[in-house]
Amino acid sequence: MRLTRRELVSGLALGALGGTVGRAGAEPVAAAKQAMRAAALPILVSAHNGYAFLEDAFHDLAHGADTLDAALKVVRGAEDDPNDDSVGLGGLPNEEGVVELDASCMHGPTRGAGAVGGVRNIKNVSLLAREVMLHTGHVMLVGEGAERFAVARGFTREDLLTDASRKVWLLWKESHADWWGPGLTAPNWRDRLEHKLKADIGVAEVERLEVLAEDLGIPPAARVGAVRRVIFPPTGTIHCSALSTKGEMSGCTTTSGLAWKLPGRLGDSPVIGAGCFTDQEVGSAGATGSGEENLKVLGAHTIVENMRRGMTPLDAGMDALQRIVRNYSGDRERLRYLDMTYYILRKDGAYAGVSLWTGYTPERPHAIAVHDGTLRLEKTVSLFEGSSQAWPPVVAKSRNGL
Ligand code: GLY
Repeated sequence: MRLTRRELVSGLALGALGGTVGRAGAEPVAAAKQAMRAAALPILVSAHNGYAFLEDAFHDLAHGADTLDAALKVVRGAEDDPNDDSVGLGGLPNEEGVVELDASCMHGPTRGAGAVGGVRNIKNVSLLAREVMLHTGHVMLVGEGAERFAVARGFTREDLLTDASRKVWLLWKESHADWWGPGLTAPNWRDRLEHKLKADIGVAEVERLEVLAEDLGIPPAARVGAVRRVIFPPTGTIHCSALSTKGEMSGCTTTSGLAWKLPGRLGDSPVIGAGCFTDQEVGSAGATGSGEENLKVLGAHTIVENMRRGMTPLDAGMDALQRIVRNYSGDRERLRYLDMTYYILRKDGAYAGVSLWTGYTPERPHAIAVHDGTLRLEKTVSLFEGSSQAWPPVVAKSRNGL
């Protein structure tokens, strides 16, 4: 199958960059901005790729399960799924083709926290984060030490790189793009985008990748997604926050992190206060998206503290997004190359999902998955209209006129 330019731009055959799990058969409904509150407790709020796992977790929570156990059941489902390439088994690897996973969790009732970063060969790092919380005097373990701790606690080492993820990594290697060089905050930030612009201006580059994808044996239905993952390295992740009928709260976040990252790179997900933060007195929040940006505003902590000072979940999340915008002096030319979604749950059952942009593509709006007795996907409320990973405006002037 040759991809048409329009298919590639729209991602029609793609599915979400963070994985397609959980969206089948469920289209997100518009969030009712004034009424984002649980119909009844308990409630679970997660990233869209938790959708398929919320029913079981809600059943547990409704029957008295611990809030962290219920939240972990959701994210563990995604970790176990080889077809979700944003977390756990089958996660997209680092630049050397090695899957490195990050996770964190907070347990409201005990005020415990655990986190792991840069973990290789262990699939369920969300559960490993809980082990750190329960069975060490520490909060965070990284790298080889975290892996050895996992084995000591009974986790099994396994190869996390699936054939599908390996082929997309091989395609990325052919693209000659990498994470070395300037970041978006550097004066010469445009050099960062050389590959994106090359692909944009030259349809030939996109077609070159498409042919390579075919040569690598990437199935036709997966080629659009593979090429997009090469040009727009995803940061897919899953977060889940839970609130019980007793008013207990917990949260957890797990990820394979930024695709094609430098070995050892940690994003926001394992950092308590950035990718995940829960305060039993106030609420719980988590993040998916550009980890580097979220680290600079400690989004989850910022949001919970905003709610402590009386903001609604929606306003608290929008304020955190505005802090990211301020880091770029509102420069949308650069902001369009990053994205962020926050999942927010207040102790009284009010909740919100907010994002910087409407979606990665026009057809795939960012969404949160919610279960309060009714399972649903809701579109996030976005700060900016438009897609973060749409091709730059020059595409409109490309020779194909698309
Ligand atoms: N938000 C996931 C990451 O950037 O690693």
